[in-house]
Amino acid sequence: METYSYNKRDEYFKRAVKVIPGGIYGHLGPASGCYIPANAYPFFSERAKGAYFWDVDGNRFIDYMCAYGPNVLGYNDEEVDAAVEKQMKEGNCVTAPSTKMIDLAELMVDTVAMADWAFFAKNGGDVTSFAVMIAKAATGRKKTIMVKGGYHGVAPWTQKLGYPGIIDEDVSNNIYVEWNKFEQIERAVAENPGQIACFIATPYHHPIFTDNAMPEKDYWQKVRKLCTDKGIVLAIDDVRCGFRLDMAGSDHYFGFKADLMCFCKALANGWNVSALCGIDALKDAASSVMYTGSYWLSAVPFAAAIACLTKLKKINGPEYMLNLGKKLTDGLRDIGKSHGFDLVISGAPSLWYMRIANDDSLMLHQEWVAECVRRGAFFANHHNLFINCAMTEEDIKYTHGIADDAFKAVKKRHPELG
Ligand SMILES: Cc1ncc(COP(=O)(O)O)c(C=O)c1O
Repeated sequence: METYSYNKRDEYFKRAVKVIPGGIYGHLGPASGCYIPANAYPFFSERAKGAYFWDVDGNRFIDYMCAYGPNVLGYNDEEVDAAVEKQMKEGNCVTAPSTKMIDLAELMVDTVAMADWAFFAKNGGDVTSFAVMIAKAATGRKKTIMVKGGYHGVAPWTQKLGYPGIIDEDVSNNIYVEWNKFEQIERAVAENPGQIACFIATPYHHPIFTDNAMPEKDYWQKVRKLCTDKGIVLAIDDVRCGFRLDMAGSDHYFGFKADLMCFCKALANGWNVSALCGIDALKDAASSVMYTGSYWLSAVPFAAAIACLTKLKKINGPEYMLNLGKKLTDGLRDIGKSHGFDLVISGAPSLWYMRIANDDSLMLHQEWVAECVRRGAFFANHHNLFINCAMTEEDIKYTHGIADDAFKAVKKRHPELG
């Protein structure tokens, strides 16, 4: 199998670093994007369609990062794009918002089991921050309990002390507990009586560099009861899992009801809108908080979200992605095994995490991922991967072929593996 080269990439990157901090910043940048070794990866795309994108060197990739989640129906999905084009002609960012906003809020209330209302912003971090503000406004309390290793965006309260730009006061009201340790939440609540506004967590634990972990039996039911008993707002950050487990929300999938639910990535197939859904009891607090942005009420992303949710419901997207993800990951594990590699798969199959466990350093894993990328299967190393609804069984077979060849290449380099 031929491997890719990236000549134009380097020319573009040289231009980028001269005028943009870091060249490509944030999660799509080679440094923070877990794109290691960077020389195996494309940096800039030229076009995208369905499950694939093409880079500036003309290489084609089946994309298992899905733009870090937003690509849920396939790039340039025709139904979403038709809704976008229609809305663009009617108006987008206008002084008085379009009634598309009401249509989308109604659709979310009909779709998400816990939702009595919906509020829209742009990014996931906008709505995780809003959730915490609403909890503080509703309870008059200061403190937030959160899970170590959880990611809720880049607002200062979500970051760690010691990170550049973060000061004591940004994080001094956070209390950190370990995932799945209910007794630690109980202890934090007992040690801070009447002070906890909110517990915020993802529906299951999907940190980077670590196997992902599902909630233990009754974990969420115990957390729900404690929050209810102590008047604590239970906010679920469904930014990443949302609509890849269950159209009714990931709290519903795990058999409990959140007070606030944050959505973003899979909401509009790449169009820029995020949503916070809430229960009636928090509606007044939500409207009391001063919270808005220049583009938050724009109509085009609302039209995209309506088309995206409608299609995901019609095709039962979460079930499709869970099933296809299972076929992909079962196959990858078996192919790995046939070459002597122990590929550990964790998380939900629609957004799984994987790691070669033959060494603890993750170096073998990086080598194998790099060989996959050089052959056209785009995986990041230490972040969960994503399935989308444009992927087919053919694509899975194609990926298995790449994985097989990549395992062979790594094995050849490591005769010590036997
Ligand atoms: C679980 C979770 N919460 C919040 C965020 C932040 O979303 P955004 O980057 O859109 O602000 C992310 C982004 O990756 C996420 O995965």
